[in-house]
Amino acid sequence: MNDRSIEDKQVWTAKQTYIPLSNALAVCAELKIDSTPMEGFDADEYERILGLKEKGLKAAVILAIGYRSDEDATQHGNKVRKSVNSISKVVE
Ligand SMILES: Cc1cc2nc3c(=O)[nH]c(=O)nc-3n(C[C@H](O)[C@H](O)[C@H](O)COP(=O)(O)O)c2cc1C
Repeated sequence: MNDRSIEDKQVWTAKQTYIPLSNALAVCAELKIDSTPMEGFDADEYERILGLKEKGLKAAVILAIGYRSDEDATQHGNKVRKSVNSISKVVE
């Protein structure tokens, strides 16, 4: 890792966050806790509000965890779910 550029290290560490993220999503599902992974967010604003830059940190992905509001009308919509075969391919 020491030989890699700062850009390469940043890309690598950002990608690393998806490993604990996927574990957290699976655990939330198991515990029946709602969760929403988000990459479409304003990273600069998150870093500013949380003071991440001062700590030498960057926001790569965020995960909201909690319970849906009873007043959230969108919860009653049908989930979009595709079969494993339609979204993956076995390479031999
Ligand atoms: C602010 C915001 C940003 C999001 N960004 C992404 C994204 O970058 N990529 C993505 O696949 N889904 C994104 N999502 C969608 C959530 O990941 C999605 O709601 C979650 O997978 C739950 O889906 P489900 O209700 O079908 O289980 C975003 C949702 C919100 C509210």
